[in-house]
Amino acid sequence: MGTGRARVAASILDADFSNLGAAIRRCEKAGADRIHLDVMDGHFVPNLTFGATTIKSLRRVTRLPLDAHLMISEPGRFIHEFIDAGCDSITFHVEVEEPVVPTLRAIREAGRAAGLSLRPATPLSALEPYAPLLDIVMVMTVEPGFGGQEFMKDVAREKLLPARDLLKHKPVGGEVHVDGGINRETAEYTGAQGVDVLVVGSALWIKGHDMGREIRLIKALADEGFQYGLNAGVPPIPRDQWVSFARLPKAYAKRFTDEIEAGGIPVLMLRGNGQINPDGIRDYEVMVPASAEALTADRHADTRERYLAAAEAWRESQRQPGS
Ligand code: DX5
Ligand code: ZN
Repeated sequence: MGTGRARVAASILDADFSNLGAAIRRCEKAGADRIHLDVMDGHFVPNLTFGATTIKSLRRVTRLPLDAHLMISEPGRFIHEFIDAGCDSITFHVEVEEPVVPTLRAIREAGRAAGLSLRPATPLSALEPYAPLLDIVMVMTVEPGFGGQEFMKDVAREKLLPARDLLKHKPVGGEVHVDGGINRETAEYTGAQGVDVLVVGSALWIKGHDMGREIRLIKALADEGFQYGLNAGVPPIPRDQWVSFARLPKAYAKRFTDEIEAGGIPVLMLRGNGQINPDGIRDYEVMVPASAEALTADRHADTRERYLAAAEAWRESQRQPGS
């Protein structure tokens, strides 16, 4: 876990496409929290990039979460390919001319985070009917299709804070993403609008710039924006004041969470960077406040061993013989 509140999803759209694996490893070394993958079909947007086959290969290169951003006309037709490719979250556009509910459901049923994105001209109200099915709201602050365009501040002002209301059903784990024109000039403003994940493309690939420094700067500026713009001067609680007590498949993590919370210790159950299980769903982090770590260990270390063993037995039983 990094420090602070804001997270950076590195977009590889402006990287050297002859070696995307190296580009992703570079983002990982530089401290990116996620990889943002822009899929374009030359139809929904006037540009073409890559599809699920490429993502499947990239999956092997990094353990970082992969956020797919589908700018394609028929997400429903390809959704299972993107799920099988190992995306951790899949976001597509509400403007597509096909029903979005079945696609959102397919993503969620596969245990991945589901998101809707919207073009700058589309009102946020277009997402309201689907709010209960959303884990991610991705606000585009440029016209989708290309990196390196100018940030649309009016769109950010109008949509970013209200986007949070669409995620009311998720007190923990719901995310507002901002995509388009994010750099050291615009990070503070979006942080002050409460954004959780900043998608950063071209700003990371400027020749001669240190990518790690760029990412640290953008996160720090976003957190500063949050502190002074939205949080009455109070610094955000760094996520690393929460420590991971166990990494378990979702069902086990849920049960363990309930047991720990029954004793009055608050628990955050978060989709982490943990191992990907045979069912394609990553382990969840069972997180407790650092101040309660010792107490949690006192009470629950034995149970943790039992859960970890049960999870491993389950993984074994799920593995296909011979694979
Ligand atoms: C644009 C893509 C963005 C793009 C952002 O359609 O969705 O993810 O990579 O690039 P910058 O950060 O340069 O605006
Ligand atoms: Zn994008």
